[in-house]
Amino acid sequence: MRSQKYAVIAGTGMAKVFELSEKHDVETPYGFAELYSVKNFQNLLFLPRHGIGYTLPPHKINYCANIYALKKMSVNYVIATNAVGSLNRRLSPGSFVIPDQIIDFTRSRKSTFFEGEGGNVVFTDVTFPYSEKVRSALLEASKRLQMKVYRKGTYVCTEGPRYETAAEIRAYKILGADIVGMTGAPEAFLAREAGIEYASVAVVTNYAAGIAKQISHGLVMDIMHRAQESMRKLIFEAINVLEAGLK
Ligand code: HPA
Repeated sequence: MRSQKYAVIAGTGMAKVFELSEKHDVETPYGFAELYSVKNFQNLLFLPRHGIGYTLPPHKINYCANIYALKKMSVNYVIATNAVGSLNRRLSPGSFVIPDQIIDFTRSRKSTFFEGEGGNVVFTDVTFPYSEKVRSALLEASKRLQMKVYRKGTYVCTEGPRYETAAEIRAYKILGADIVGMTGAPEAFLAREAGIEYASVAVVTNYAAGIAKQISHGLVMDIMHRAQESMRKLIFEAINVLEAGLK
């Protein structure tokens, strides 16, 4: 048995990024999580964040069950994918970004495993919310594949499922955000609490509200589908890097 185990948490438009085999309904104290094995990859699990048939909106995703289930299945590295809008004119639709920071504007989500049960009060350091080890592996993989990726970016997470107003986007830009999505939090924070090394690959699908005149989910899906092949290559190469024990 290998000691390193990987999972991909796949977001919008990425449900078919791998060929799947067995389904696992993993029971957790938060409910069931739906995971899949990936054909021909014994040490890789696949978790479609919105469900395999895209049935869960961002604010209804059971983030706690998902991360708990990955921990229960002994996963130590997670690569997540996120569809995002861009607040930064340099990041045009189709760009890949490896975010390094998060601003969390979600409001209705259970966002910690530590509720102080039994007087056990736990605080978690998220100064750098993404795993540098997984981020470095993704950056090394992109170099090997000669794929252009942006090495940094601040991801602002909104509650959704509505898109943002133009004024909200102006405000987030002043706060330093580069990209906006609805699923990065609390996922990254829960992974940190669980001791899982977690990083994300964000794909810009549109300019954010007010920069673009209008946002269409159809267009978001279309760009993500077109990004699937590059995403698959990037993820496999990053896993190779992590397997080789490179930084
Ligand atoms: N806002 C929030 N989430 C998104 C966007 C956006 O513009 N595009 C893709 N996911």
